Amino acid sequence: MSERKKVTLPVLFEKVANGEPITWLTCYDYPTAYLQEQAGLDMILVGDSLGMTMLGYDSTLPVTMDDMIRHTAAVRRGAPTAFVIGDMPYMSYQPSVETAIRNAGRFMAETGCDAIKLEGGAEMADRIAGIVRAGIPAMGHLGLTPQSASALGGFRLQGKGALQAKKIVDDAKALEEAGAFCILLELVPDELCGIITERAENCIIMSLGSGPHAHGQLLIYHDLFGLYPKFTPRMAKVYGNAGEVILNGLKQYVQEVTEKEFPERERYFGMKREEYEELLAMLDGE
Ligand code: KIV
Repeated sequence: MSERKKVTLPVLFEKVANGEPITWLTCYDYPTAYLQEQAGLDMILVGDSLGMTMLGYDSTLPVTMDDMIRHTAAVRRGAPTAFVIGDMPYMSYQPSVETAIRNAGRFMAETGCDAIKLEGGAEMADRIAGIVRAGIPAMGHLGLTPQSASALGGFRLQGKGALQAKKIVDDAKALEEAGAFCILLELVPDELCGIITERAENCIIMSLGSGPHAHGQLLIYHDLFGLYPKFTPRMAKVYGNAGEVILNGLKQYVQEVTEKEFPERERYFGMKREEYEELLAMLDGE
C-alpha cells in the first residue's frame, strides 16, 4: 500500500492555493481503486455512472443507494488515502432535505467515504446546506447533469448561450453560498468554466470536458482505457486500450482450453505415488 498521507479538505484547498491542479477519476471497484491509489490520484468519484459502466444500464437512473454503498465501500478499501466522494443516486436527495441528509449520512457511515456529490443548481442549495449542517462535506454538479439528461435534451454541451450560461454562474454561486466545498462543471464551454473558477471564493471548481481553467480535472475511468463498449466521448482522452488487451487474452484462453494446451504441467498438482496407490486399493475394495 502507498505511504501517502490522507488527502483531506485542507490538503485539497492548499493545492488550489498553490495553483496545483487536482487529479480526479471515477472508480467503482477494489482493484481499480488500488491502482488509482498507487498512481497518486487526489480524489476518486464513485459515480452513479457505474449504472452504465459496470451494470450495463442505458442511463444512471436505475442505480440505487444499495448499489452505491456496495461499490463505494469497495473503493474505500482499495484507496485508503485518496479523497473518496460518493455520488448520490437518482431520487436519493431530490424528494426532500431530510431524505438527502439521511442518504448522505448512510454514505458516510456505511462506506467511510469523505464527501458526497449531488446534481443540480439553486433548487438543490437547501439539500447541500442541510447535508453540510449535518457535518458532511457536500459538492455540487452543474452543466450536463446526467440524472436530468432527458430534461436537458440529451447528453450535450450546456451553457452555450449567454442566458443559460448566466444561470449556471448563478447556480454555482448559490451552491457555494450553501456550503458546497466543490462544484463539478460537466460539459460547459471553456470560457464559462473560466468565469466560474475566477469568481469562486471558497469553493474548488473541477472540470469534466469543460476545459483547462478549473482547479482540476475529472474523467470517467472506463473512457481512459477503452473499457466502455458503447462509445467514447470527445472530451475523454484514451491512454491505453485495456479492452483490447483483455479481449486478446480471453480469445487466447478459449483457444488454449479448446486445443487442450491449458493447463500446462506446472499449473496443477499431483499426489504422492504411495497415496495414489492406497487410494486405488481402497476404491478397488469397495
Ligand atoms: O456518475 C458520474 O460518474 C458522474 C460524472 C459523470 C461526473 O457524475
